[in-house]
Amino acid sequence: MQERFWPYVLLALLSAGTAAILSVLDRPYWLIFLAVFFIVVIFALIRIALHDPVEEPASELITHHPPGALPAGFGRALLDQMPLALVVISPVGRITYGNKAAKERFPHVKKGDHFATLLRTPAFVDAVNEVIANGGSRKVAFSSGQETKRYYEARIGVLPAGSEFGVSEQILVDIEDRTLERRSDKMRSDFIANASHELRTPLASILGYIETLQGHAREDPVAQEKFLKIMNKQASRMQRLVDDLMSLSRIEMNAHVRPSTPCDIFDLVREAIASLKPLEAENHVTLDCRLPENGPTVPGDRDQLNQVFVNLLMNAMKYGDKGETVEVELAPETPESAGMLGITVRDHGQGIAPKHIERLTERFYRVNAAQSRNKGGTGLGLAIVKHILQRHRGQLRIESEPGQGSEFTVWLPLE
Ligand SMILES: Nc1ncnc2c1ncn2[C@@H]1O[C@H](COP(=O)(O)OP(=O)(O)OP(=O)(O)O)[C@@H](O)[C@H]1O
Ligand SMILES: [Mg+2]
Repeated sequence: MQERFWPYVLLALLSAGTAAILSVLDRPYWLIFLAVFFIVVIFALIRIALHDPVEEPASELITHHPPGALPAGFGRALLDQMPLALVVISPVGRITYGNKAAKERFPHVKKGDHFATLLRTPAFVDAVNEVIANGGSRKVAFSSGQETKRYYEARIGVLPAGSEFGVSEQILVDIEDRTLERRSDKMRSDFIANASHELRTPLASILGYIETLQGHAREDPVAQEKFLKIMNKQASRMQRLVDDLMSLSRIEMNAHVRPSTPCDIFDLVREAIASLKPLEAENHVTLDCRLPENGPTVPGDRDQLNQVFVNLLMNAMKYGDKGETVEVELAPETPESAGMLGITVRDHGQGIAPKHIERLTERFYRVNAAQSRNKGGTGLGLAIVKHILQRHRGQLRIESEPGQGSEFTVWLPLE
């Protein structure tokens, strides 16, 4: 502090000395003032030239507190910003504080409640009780809930006495919801298991027939012809499966990029129908396009939208009843569909029971696996449709009455 004043003391002494010398020499007052004035100006210029910002007094924006004394509410403000659910528990097990994330995750829990109202799982309750009794820290992973299980990870530690949460030691708990992570892990492993199973079955069949052809069918041209046909069918199914898997991963890779090329949607659907006309006879159904001549354009990826309608039309042909028609028409507008265009593919086949409907777009989900495989299906068709529509910010709605038929409606945003 004193170091900051010595230049001013020196200035005062210098000015006083000069004034004294000039007055002793009997100089006029104006000369004494002028000399002192020059000394002050020179001093000021030297100070500006040597100015060191580090020596600047602390900014008034920063308020200094003695060490250990943070401003009131600092801890709470900090904890409130955390994305993790954080809860402070008193030594008797009562909740004294929950941050914003905790209030959102556990809206039923109030200040003063016992901590077990957060999650009644024994693993969690025991871990908190142990830290209350013995101090230290614990980390526990557990699940909660019966029908819809949720997975959590909690870390429990001690807040020192004298914090803003209480004079005595408090318990700080953070609870992380790991359900989504667990679900996606499970989906990934299920997907690999399903894909391998789907490939293994036709592969085993092909290997079996190769053995037969090398063995007792070696001299039997009729059997050879029959087995080669089956092998061809199985190999085609494997090829379709690989194509569908590649297709899915390509769509997923671009999931966040919304396609923007304007597509004449009615024209696109008519093209999909035309490409499937040759299969009408084989499936004993008739495709009936009831779309108006001229239609709007929607922003989209033409190839992918074509894939959507080919998949839905193929399903309607495969699972529609023999001799029936498959109709394609404009869906009536509803209040929820404002700004969207809907196109319905309707069949009059076996229909789908309500419990299956919401699972149909899962990868490899089939109502009747044997029937689907027999028709060369991979069980990925509707999963691909869902992903393409998600990329287009569209939707798929499924309505069905068992025994009467099904309606698959594609909704696409017009803008
Ligand atoms: N129009 C429909 N009528 C009745 N059931 C259907 C219809 N469309 C689909 N399903 C049921 O939904 C399941 C899943 O359909 P999805 O298109 O994903 O697979 P898939 O048709 O079996 O195989 P892929 O599409 O690869 O040929 C089908 O196996 C079938 O059980
Ligand atoms: Mg299909």
